Amino acid sequence: MTNAEYSPGLEGVIAAPSTVSYLDLEKEEIVVRGYDLIELAQKRSYLETAYLVIHGHLPDERETMAFGERLKEESALPKGAYSVLEALPRQTNAMDALRTGISLLASYESPEVLQDNSTAANLIKGLRIMAKGPVLACNAYHAMKGQPFVPADPKLGFIENVLWMVHGKQPDQESTEALDLIFTCYIEHEMPNSTFAARVIASTLSDIYGAITGAVASLKGPLHGGANEAAAMMLLDILKQGGPSKAEEYIMDMRSRHERVMGFGHRVYMRRYDPRAYLLKDYIPKFTHKKPEGEELYAIYRTVEEVMFRETKLYPNADYPIGFLLYLLDIPIPLFTPLFLCARIPGLVAHVVEQHADNRLFRPRVLYQGPRGLHPA
Ligand code: SDX
Repeated sequence: MTNAEYSPGLEGVIAAPSTVSYLDLEKEEIVVRGYDLIELAQKRSYLETAYLVIHGHLPDERETMAFGERLKEESALPKGAYSVLEALPRQTNAMDALRTGISLLASYESPEVLQDNSTAANLIKGLRIMAKGPVLACNAYHAMKGQPFVPADPKLGFIENVLWMVHGKQPDQESTEALDLIFTCYIEHEMPNSTFAARVIASTLSDIYGAITGAVASLKGPLHGGANEAAAMMLLDILKQGGPSKAEEYIMDMRSRHERVMGFGHRVYMRRYDPRAYLLKDYIPKFTHKKPEGEELYAIYRTVEEVMFRETKLYPNADYPIGFLLYLLDIPIPLFTPLFLCARIPGLVAHVVEQHADNRLFRPRVLYQGPRGLHPA
């Protein structure tokens, strides 16, 4: 192995062929099964886009209805799952609780089904994980807070149910539409660390539950999905420290300590605007009224973006507007990254199906920099 073959963090390395999605930097397009994700986000529902990501074509009305019904049928958690959530220490991180819950679901599959990596079996298991993910995430949060569980309501749609399970009350139309848009923006994004983790695990022919469990562990990281929570907490901290007039000094202080500003920068987009962030930033003003401090936070949000661009030429990634929007939708901050994961489950399912259908074990090499030629006495 030579230096020439080593790319730190596998930057720029193609890890696998795929028909699921592609980040076309020249056209600034997030291609998802041939469609522009930003166009899908504006014209189709999350459920229709999830069907497209998993099955490879946009569903007709009948397919969309049947897909929604299957998700409702699969949204009930096994009884044991609630007992496990209750048994977790109240200090458990919400992403760790979700990771535990998804891993636990594997135990409720028969050994034959669990180990069947055929596309047909993976689609059945993948739909179960998609249906149960938000139920696990929301109810793990309630368990940590010592609050009653809120199971999915079969009368509600998929995104409505997420809001129902978070707040325990009927969601309003504008919040449902906003969360549907956010979930669609998060649904699939080529080969991020969490998707790569899922494919690496699947490439040993381990099952889809294990692969997605690994993706949860990856997405939790603040350099990845955890950035939406960190970005929102930064805005709130600036508010507490003095508000919009304090924003520039706050960011300059972070820069002087060489601290990363969460929600900015991207391995692939580098110094380009993440198309998802570019779309979502225009939705923020429609929701600042939902919180008394909404307008002040929005002024902070804009100042941080201006200072970051002036100082670093970095643009926001999807996590920056989404963290703010989820806060305005009154989603508890510890649920931000778990809901990111739930939104991404269709993408993860599609990649595991693809990996199992045409597999080659991932087994990279090292650029060895240790000693040689030593001999024990
Ligand atoms: C997601 O991959 C995906 O597609 C992920 C995702 C998806 O949909 O799945 O898009 C979701 O994870 C979005 C990213 C969320 N993470 C963050 O917002 C965390 C903050 N961002 C960074 O840490 C960083 O931008 C990364 C991790 C996202 C990308 O890092 P890279 O490609 O390894 O870039 P780098 O660390 O080499 O930084 C290049 C330069 C450095 O400056 P120098 O040291 O060379 O002078 O840019 C600077 C960095 O210091 N830089 C930042 C910065 N991000 C990069 N400086 C301040 N704040 C930042 N956020």
